[in-house]
Amino acid sequence: MSNATLQFYNEQARRYAELRARPIQVYTDAAERAALEPYALAASDILDLGCGEGRLTRWIAAMKRKHGGSFRVHGVDFSPEMIAQALRFNGDLPATYGVGDAMALEFPDGSFDLVASCTAPNNFPTLEGALSEIHRVLRPGGIFFATIINAEETARFARYVYYAPYFLWRGVKRLGGGAGGYHRVLYSRDELERLLAGRFETVELSGMRVVSDFVPEFPLNVWPPLFPIMRGILKFTRDLDRRLERHPHFGRHARFHLVVARAVK
Ligand SMILES: C[S@@+](CC[C@H](N)C(=O)[O-])C[C@H]1O[C@@H](n2cnc3c(N)ncnc32)[C@H](O)[C@@H]1O
Repeated sequence: MSNATLQFYNEQARRYAELRARPIQVYTDAAERAALEPYALAASDILDLGCGEGRLTRWIAAMKRKHGGSFRVHGVDFSPEMIAQALRFNGDLPATYGVGDAMALEFPDGSFDLVASCTAPNNFPTLEGALSEIHRVLRPGGIFFATIINAEETARFARYVYYAPYFLWRGVKRLGGGAGGYHRVLYSRDELERLLAGRFETVELSGMRVVSDFVPEFPLNVWPPLFPIMRGILKFTRDLDRRLERHPHFGRHARFHLVVARAVK
């Protein structure tokens, strides 16, 4: 477990809900929820792994409650500060939370029929190790659902340009002895296919966000008075994004991979 990563997320916990309320994050949440909904509805025992302050856990719990039946929704994160926020925000929703490490999950084999992990897999010390644990805690045929930042994202170059002032500021801060970087590994589609092979059968491996990342997040997604402009532009990119996400070339170069895989045992 990396101390720098833990420190980064412990510090981010207080601001995380505010960051997730920015237009491109809300846009991503909607895409994730639409993709996750059928799997969450079909599952009874659900784990949100690397749940952060529980934004997705709460949504799953609220949806499951609305549809009735018996179920369990549990969020795990290695940051105690994130879990403290999740407990604070949860209200009376039927979800539970605990501090835990994706590399050594404290659940018996075959405990869940869905493990969801959104943008957390990039932070795990090794994805291979986390996938072994996810496979172990899933029942045969159980679903692993994830969004994972793509190493082959085309829009990264656009981001370098519009975030240039921020990168410059961060570089100067580091020179002045600021905090070190946290652990984040990006994966290509080929790497994910290789990592899933053998233990999982791929149900879907597509992209998420293709053109929306060319919209200059800095300053449109960072400065609140500009949020209505960002929201307006995202309304236009939505249909194109949804069409290109499954395209064999463009989908492969999206901001995120959308992974849906079935545990083979
Ligand atoms: C980018 S945030 C995503 C949070 C949440 N899934 C969401 O979509 O809002 C990544 C989360 O993964 C957690 N995390 C990182 N490494 C972890 C590990 N080894 N085990 C459990 N959680 C971890 C971090 O504390 C952080 O809350």
